[in-house]
Amino acid sequence: MKILVATDKPFAPIAIEGIKKVTDNAKHELVLLEKYTEKTQLLEAVKNVDAIIIRSDIVDKEVINAAEKLKIVVRAGAGFDNIDLTTATEKNIVAMNTPGQNSNAVAELALGFMVMMARNNFDGTSGTELKCKKLGIHAYGNVGKLVANIAKGFGMEVFAFDPFVSKEAIEKDGVKAVNTVEELYSTCQYISLHIPANDKTKKSINYNLLSKMPKGATLINTARKEVINEEEILKLMAERKDFKYASDIEPSSKDAFIENFSNRIFFSPKKIGAQTSEANINAGIAAAKQIVDFFETGNIQFKVN
Ligand code: 3PG
Repeated sequence: MKILVATDKPFAPIAIEGIKKVTDNAKHELVLLEKYTEKTQLLEAVKNVDAIIIRSDIVDKEVINAAEKLKIVVRAGAGFDNIDLTTATEKNIVAMNTPGQNSNAVAELALGFMVMMARNNFDGTSGTELKCKKLGIHAYGNVGKLVANIAKGFGMEVFAFDPFVSKEAIEKDGVKAVNTVEELYSTCQYISLHIPANDKTKKSINYNLLSKMPKGATLINTARKEVINEEEILKLMAERKDFKYASDIEPSSKDAFIENFSNRIFFSPKKIGAQTSEANINAGIAAAKQIVDFFETGNIQFKVN
């Protein structure tokens, strides 16, 4: 079988070596399309491949239609909002993710952003400490759990809201489970977002919710930009000089944030949450193994469509 790695944001070379070992051992052919800049390059590369490994790369209807032999696409990572699942299902193509494999990298970055915001973007003025501050984890999945654990090491008081995780499962980690999302935001000075982007969550982080946060509010977003109501957060930041926002995804209205609140924001130009060698190795090799296993045994454990 022919397996394509299509990543506009490449894996670390050591991760590619690991992926190649897995595909070579299973006698598959590996082809690479890294750092591509045009969609036409992706459309060309997917012709004649049986499997694709992607990161945040967009696999829409056009890409799926161009991939006439495609049987499986694996998103080396957690979020799969970049794959047109409806079209994949119609075409009998299996879509998978690799849950948990890059979570630690994202969790470490979330805490790094908190320190950066607490220290006024490292501008040399007196900042504050994370110790004894209240942190709200919005969605207690693989990343949220790790953020909670690291934050406890900083001496933070950790709260979480997740309608899909039981109170008991959250509280056994020494994290306080709150009953409503409103309660999370009105209790915590720091909020770390770990919700997926879907029809229910898009633009759900809005003025109403964020305005409940106590003085010195800081929003950390290592999830997706689509979950933020940008117009409303801009309005809130204009009203509240204490409000800070850091994210590893540039907002669509980045210029408005930079023009008005440059000392209270940070956005990395490319999504960097999962950009570590370790995360690349874990997620990339897991994706390759899932593909090999799918072809050998039909295993669809991580299927998302
Ligand atoms: C994910 O969903 O796994 C993260 O957002 C990381 O995305 P990336 O692989 O594009 O860095």
